[in-house]
Amino acid sequence: MKLNYKPDFSKNHRRTFLRQFGAGITALAVPNIFLNGKANTIPPINKIPFLELSQDFQDESYWEMVKKQFIIAPGKIMVNAANLCPSPHFVNERVANYSQDLASDVSFQNRGKFGKERGRVIKRMAKFLNVDSLEIGITRNTSESNNIVVNGLDFGAEDEILIWDQNHPTNNIAWEQRARRYGFVVKKISVPSAPESKADLVKAFKDQMSPRTRLIAFSHISNVSGIALPAKEICQMAREQNVLTLVDGAQSFGFLNLDLRAMGCDFYSSSTHKWLMGPMENGILYARKAVMDKLWPNIIAAGWKEDHQSLDEKVCVLGQRNTPSTPAIIDIIDFHETVGTPNIEARVRYLNAYLKEQIRKKLPNATFVTPLASELSGGITIFRLPGKEPRMIFQKLYENYGIAGAPTGGIRLSPHIYCTSKDMDRIVEALVALAGD
Ligand SMILES: Cc1ncc(COP(=O)(O)O)c(C=O)c1O
Repeated sequence: MKLNYKPDFSKNHRRTFLRQFGAGITALAVPNIFLNGKANTIPPINKIPFLELSQDFQDESYWEMVKKQFIIAPGKIMVNAANLCPSPHFVNERVANYSQDLASDVSFQNRGKFGKERGRVIKRMAKFLNVDSLEIGITRNTSESNNIVVNGLDFGAEDEILIWDQNHPTNNIAWEQRARRYGFVVKKISVPSAPESKADLVKAFKDQMSPRTRLIAFSHISNVSGIALPAKEICQMAREQNVLTLVDGAQSFGFLNLDLRAMGCDFYSSSTHKWLMGPMENGILYARKAVMDKLWPNIIAAGWKEDHQSLDEKVCVLGQRNTPSTPAIIDIIDFHETVGTPNIEARVRYLNAYLKEQIRKKLPNATFVTPLASELSGGITIFRLPGKEPRMIFQKLYENYGIAGAPTGGIRLSPHIYCTSKDMDRIVEALVALAGD
């Protein structure tokens, strides 16, 4: 097992910005809009200063400081990032301030700022993912983004779609329903349960492609096994055959150091309330410019324009939205770039590797659903304890030890940067006690 994961710090590593983030407390504090009633003023938030990361991803004192940015209940350990992540306090504060601002003045004039903020968010998100801002739409979550693609493309009786049998229902049942209505074929692909290499995973898809294949839809990282598919290789193989790709990034966005241009997918979907760590009920959809014309809008609401310029204008116009939450996406991207996206990936990989190693040492009979190798997995560790129902362990972990995991695919633990190595030790101690009960 690779515990000594070596991250690539060459890209996006912003040490100078780290120092600036600490100084951000006053820079962002602007006069109280509720007193002067000025529209388009950004409500203030406070940021706890960071110190510079001294020993990269294994420096526990640094990560303890990162943890302090969150308001996790005392004594609780959140290891359910694959489902929902807590947000740092300043994201909650931004959303609360904007909500109050809106409640205090719902005029068109005051609400004008939300449209501008959405534009800023899209630009920033596009940069974060290395794509063009015309290619990004802000949805409500991955479920919506996946369904925009499923219901927005035209397929007929001659066409075949390949889906991974581990896909989330929104990228699985959604395709099957659509196929029943329009008569195309959906083929489910299984991968080896214990893959030995990336090539094993690519082969599973390659072997099932045919001249009728039009699209491959797959989770980048499975929420039920923790297996990470080599998205770049699958997308490249598909592109060579003129086949479209939809990558469900619910379990990769916000954790992996992503570059969608380099990945080469046609569509990519995700939620901000998972690994990105907030804000709630925002999602993203990416569609490559060259394929955007193929996508029909599912919903037409007030404000939709025939002469739309961007993906957001084309498929994400949805009537009144929860506008106060979206601007906080800028704050969370600031946070990711402050800590450093390669550092976040490295830390999450380290925590998972450490957790796997401790489980193997202290619970030698445990069986892993998730591959042990870091390059075949991501931020999720799923395993089983002999003779123990995963749901029972999941329940007792929370009731007796305040450890929030999930019973998905086994006992599923997904630690994030608000967890420490000490938390992993506490989890393993609790598992040892429960295994002996
Ligand atoms: C792979 C995958 N896709 C989609 C979703 C749905 O996410 P949301 O509920 O944010 O739409 C999930 C949720 O766990 C998921 O794991």
